[in-house]
Amino acid sequence: MKAVLCRQYGPPESLQVEEIEWPKADKGKLVIEVKACGVNFPDTLIIQGKYQFKPAFPFSPGGEVAGVVREVGEGVTHLKPGDNVFSLTGWGGFSEGVLADGYRSFPMPLGMDHQTAASLMYTYGTSYHALKDRANIQMGETLLVLGAAGGVGLAAVTLGKIMGAKVIAAASTDEKLALCREFGADETINYLSQDLRERIKEITGGQGVDVIYDPVGGNLAEPALRSMSWRGRYLVIGFAAGPIPSLPLNLPLLNGCSVVGVFWGAFAERQPQDNFRNVQELIGFWQDGRLKPHIHATYSLEQAADALNEMLGRRVMGKVLIVP
Ligand SMILES: NC(=O)c1ccc[n+]([C@@H]2O[C@H](COP(=O)([O-])OP(=O)(O)OC[C@H]3O[C@@H](n4cnc5c(N)ncnc54)[C@H](OP(=O)(O)O)[C@@H]3O)[C@@H](O)[C@H]2O)c1
Repeated sequence: MKAVLCRQYGPPESLQVEEIEWPKADKGKLVIEVKACGVNFPDTLIIQGKYQFKPAFPFSPGGEVAGVVREVGEGVTHLKPGDNVFSLTGWGGFSEGVLADGYRSFPMPLGMDHQTAASLMYTYGTSYHALKDRANIQMGETLLVLGAAGGVGLAAVTLGKIMGAKVIAAASTDEKLALCREFGADETINYLSQDLRERIKEITGGQGVDVIYDPVGGNLAEPALRSMSWRGRYLVIGFAAGPIPSLPLNLPLLNGCSVVGVFWGAFAERQPQDNFRNVQELIGFWQDGRLKPHIHATYSLEQAADALNEMLGRRVMGKVLIVP
């Protein structure tokens, strides 16, 4: 089978497509013929050795896939060869085939296509866990989403609306903000051309926001934290801008607010039953038409570097996919 391999840490251009053996399904595992693989920001980090997980070389990036079960190992009883499946793999998905964990693989709901299924877990899983389990967001609360047109950002906009929040989408271009409006954002802020704090004051009548969803970090983090309401929750999702911000601890004190860490991969690993329930609820939102991933573009295995560079170049809106 063909696979995109990372043989040493480096930029996307250092990846190469090679012919390798199909994996075998060990105990508790299954082999999936990949039909679509979601591209996520961690894929850009894992190939550079900058991610929390460092798989042994050579490895393929690609943390979430949808496809068809080819083989199941001992102990996997909820899936069988031929089933449509979607799975959280961590890495390995930029390939025609991947070895996946049974407990992180789910039968695809009837009527869902592979590209939708490969867009569901990482971004919506993260944002749902963040808003529901970590922020305990309530109907009528105000949610500010930074990087709102990106993968996890657009998922947070959609889910914020589903959960009854007033959603303020913030992003770097008007085109991105227009997409956020299409996905339900009530208000928008262009943080390259507008002052973030002033606009939040204006929109909230000086009250500040109840929940901040921050996958960007960098120099947005502090002005955002300064714009929190009393008892607000600041969700630390990621640092797409690069630098990990340091925040003055007097700010949570003064606003009586919380800075809350979110690590969805660890949640899925440590609390698989809770994650499973969340995935089922997300499927329910898709079934009743309230959740529909925005597919920005699809790329072949040979174009994997282009897909990753599109993401690093800040040009992706919603989701990009590798389609082997
Ligand atoms: N905590 C968790 O469990 C978890 C799970 C999944 C992902 N994440 C993290 O969440 C972040 C976003 O992931 P994603 O897959 O949604 O990525 P994405 O689609 O690329 O979105 C990231 C957004 O960040 C903004 N950005 C600002 N500076 C950037 C830069 N220098 N390079 C790239 N983007 C920049 C961009 O929006 P603007 O151009 O509008 O600023 C972009 O849309 C990453 O840091 C990722 O590691 C965390």
